Amino acid sequence: MYNYYPDELIEEIRINNDIVEVISDYVRLERKGKDYFGLCPFHKEKTPSFSVVPGKQIFYCFGCGKGGNVFHFIMNAENLEYIEAVKYLADRAKIQLPEGNEEDTNKARIRRELININTEAARFFHQNLISGKYTKAMEYLVKRGITDRTIKKFGLGFQPEEIDILYRYLKSKGYGDEPIQASGLVLPGKKGGFYDRFRGRIIFPIFDIRGNVIAFGGRVTDSSLPKYMNSPETPVYSKSKNLYSLNFAKNSGEKQIIIVEGYMDVISLQQNGIINTVASLGTALTESQGRLLKKYAEEVIISYDSDSAGQAATLRGLDILNDLGCSVRVLTVPDGKDPDEFIKKNGAEEFRKIAAKSVSLIEYKIADLKKHVDLETTQGRLSFLNKSADLLAKIDNRVELEMYSKKIADDYNISEEAILSEIYKRINKKAGNRNNQAMFREIRKDEPEQDVRKYQSIIHNERMLIAMLCIDNNIYKSVRDKIGTDFIDKENERIFKIITERIDNKSGIVPAELLNVIEGPAANVFASIIQKECNFEDTYKAVTDIIKKIENEKNDIRKQEILSLLNSKEGLSEGDVEKLKKELNSIILAKQKS
Ligand code: CTP
Ligand code: MN
Repeated sequence: MYNYYPDELIEEIRINNDIVEVISDYVRLERKGKDYFGLCPFHKEKTPSFSVVPGKQIFYCFGCGKGGNVFHFIMNAENLEYIEAVKYLADRAKIQLPEGNEEDTNKARIRRELININTEAARFFHQNLISGKYTKAMEYLVKRGITDRTIKKFGLGFQPEEIDILYRYLKSKGYGDEPIQASGLVLPGKKGGFYDRFRGRIIFPIFDIRGNVIAFGGRVTDSSLPKYMNSPETPVYSKSKNLYSLNFAKNSGEKQIIIVEGYMDVISLQQNGIINTVASLGTALTESQGRLLKKYAEEVIISYDSDSAGQAATLRGLDILNDLGCSVRVLTVPDGKDPDEFIKKNGAEEFRKIAAKSVSLIEYKIADLKKHVDLETTQGRLSFLNKSADLLAKIDNRVELEMYSKKIADDYNISEEAILSEIYKRINKKAGNRNNQAMFREIRKDEPEQDVRKYQSIIHNERMLIAMLCIDNNIYKSVRDKIGTDFIDKENERIFKIITERIDNKSGIVPAELLNVIEGPAANVFASIIQKECNFEDTYKAVTDIIKKIENEKNDIRKQEILSLLNSKEGLSEGDVEKLKKELNSIILAKQKS
């Protein structure tokens, strides 16, 4: 799963990021005995139940059950994928990450250099803006109500008019023409040399989710055209794959993300405390952007301009997100205003109110249908009825479907029966496949509950065993013959293989390192086990007890299986019956012995 980087390197990165130090940037920790406690950053609480164990380099929250090592903490706190968290912590510890082959190394070097150039340029722009030398830019931002704090948070800047002031600045920092040009910050002049792309513009740096400066947008300070200029596609920037301000929005703690059209909308909303907003960088929403949103939000609210271009973009965005399985709503700002104008005039509370009233995909689409037909004519009404039935027939939930049908019948003054009958015609057409699927589900549900609980218990004990072996590598030698090689849980089996290999080749493994090879919810469970359940005086006795328990539970399950086979006798030969009886006997004997 993680053979992206060598295990030793991952472990080196982990060791060089002390968990107490890292978490202290996010949580105020107080020492209590051997552990540290603080308020959990992952759920709301008033008394601290979030623990950090420096000795084992893990964290665990007794309240919400989140836990893991330093990588899992950063994944949760920064909303990053595992590999991104590894890169993040490698950066923090100043550890160089290798790339696969020579071409990759070269690419990585170019990307690194471009990010450095962008970062240098962003600082240069920002310094210019706040220097007080270029009053035009600052006055414009003040006029638009942008505060100093917002300017700092978004790293806003100004690119002076002088033809190549940035180019010369970057040269003075030691960068070559080739990477400077590749950054898109300068353009080649007709008579040789280079001139700066964004001259005379207010600069909006664009960050990736890790906070790297990957591109820029530049706005004029008056009504001249074009209003915006943007960085071209570069090795570090693709406008269809990024969302402006997602680096901030993803940490808002909200379940929804609001997507708006402009830089200024995002900045204005965030300044007013609506942090969960992003902008789609002047393009209609793409599938890549949709996937990003889905990763960071349970629901997306589209709030594009109410002009026809904005509404067309809304419809496309709805379809893209809906096809990705993303829950999506539409927020139409009243009076044809954009979100920036609205919040400036009415404040954050009013904005939250209209956001709460955003409409579902179905409602939006039906309202849109209505715009394109004339409900005064018979033909128009018929076409509206058919098209809305097409849309409604896609709703899986009966109650919801009937609710919407009633609402539409009322709103547009058509007969509810007529709509429902059209909808069910469509649903019945599709019914064939559906029925098959439903039957399939019935059969799979048919597992005895008792067994399920036993399986869960075995899986838990397997995890205990794994955790204990990491806590005391030495016991493995004395118990290895007692451990069966097939685990009920295949993930446990995979992990067990890895840890025993490391114990065998003498590199050994510690509990926090065990967590390096575990992703997702299982990390929480392992952290919980390590923190709460593995504090034994006699580790040898504890481990042999666990092994015995697993053995007994497996035997119990097998015993039940044999009994039910013998009861039904279906498809069993005389010989099979004999064999099963023998097996049953030996299970019963083993139980008596233990
Ligand atoms: N845009 C662009 N190039 C343009 C115009 C617009 O790239 N010539 C993109 C920008 O990302 C901009 C977005 O489309 O933020 C929305 O455009 P608009 O609503 O005109 O911009 P705002 O950010 O709202 O700017 P302002 O309020 O200052 O007019
Ligand atoms: Mn605007």
